[in-house]
Amino acid sequence: MIQVDVVTIFPGFFDSFLRESFVGIAQKQGQMRIAVHDLRGWTQDRHRTVDDTPYGGGPGMVLKPEPLVAAIEDLAGEKGKREARVILPSPRGQRLSQARLEGLSGEEHLVIVCARYEGVDQRVIDLAVDEEISIGDYVISGGEIPAMLMIEGITRLVPGVLGNSESTLTESFQQDRLEAPHYTRPAEFRGHAVPEVLRSGDHAAVERWRREKAFEITKERRPDLLGDTRGEEER
Ligand SMILES: C[S@@+](CC[C@H](N)C(=O)[O-])C[C@H]1O[C@@H](n2cnc3c(N)ncnc32)[C@H](O)[C@@H]1O
Repeated sequence: MIQVDVVTIFPGFFDSFLRESFVGIAQKQGQMRIAVHDLRGWTQDRHRTVDDTPYGGGPGMVLKPEPLVAAIEDLAGEKGKREARVILPSPRGQRLSQARLEGLSGEEHLVIVCARYEGVDQRVIDLAVDEEISIGDYVISGGEIPAMLMIEGITRLVPGVLGNSESTLTESFQQDRLEAPHYTRPAEFRGHAVPEVLRSGDHAAVERWRREKAFEITKERRPDLLGDTRGEEER
């Protein structure tokens, strides 16, 4: 069972996300326990202030350290003395990959801290965050979507959550390959026929076709994934 605590100033973002599809099912089945916490619950003032202007001037607001560090330490304990892993989605972090999601799916307790505005006071990172993770080289307005993205990516790797656990093994990035194309009925659509081999019932031939297509598509679109095996014939 993986416990995930999310800290945000917009808890409502997560309402339907946590109920729907396999993230909802994983919680009902007891494989995931996900709790969303309103950062304002850790403020001390009448206005429940979470942000302030940046030292040195400049545009935007910065999330204050006191409520954030209090929230993280309540949920995860102190940095260096804790079992949990505290993640801050940030464009400055290491780029998220399937390999990192696999690593995270092996953790027992994650705390994901969603920033807004210009981001968090650097002391929050220094004192309380274990890892900054980026979802890509672009900027969006908050950490909530990155948090959902990570939760979804992790949940589908938890054994028993997806109906057919084999499907994760053949998916893109799982074996340094993009996935082969999929087809379903009808056998012909607007003059485009499903490749004959997929209808042949010859499982070995289907497997070989899928491996070849996965190799071709990876070579064409993402040769970087092939690494040392680039140019080698697919076996
Ligand atoms: C408007 S952004 C702040 C961007 C920040 N001022 C910068 O230039 O790096 C607000 C928050 O959204 C989240 N965020 C935005 N883009 C992200 C990305 N590519 N990966 C992960 N989190 C992101 C982070 O939590 C970030 O602190």
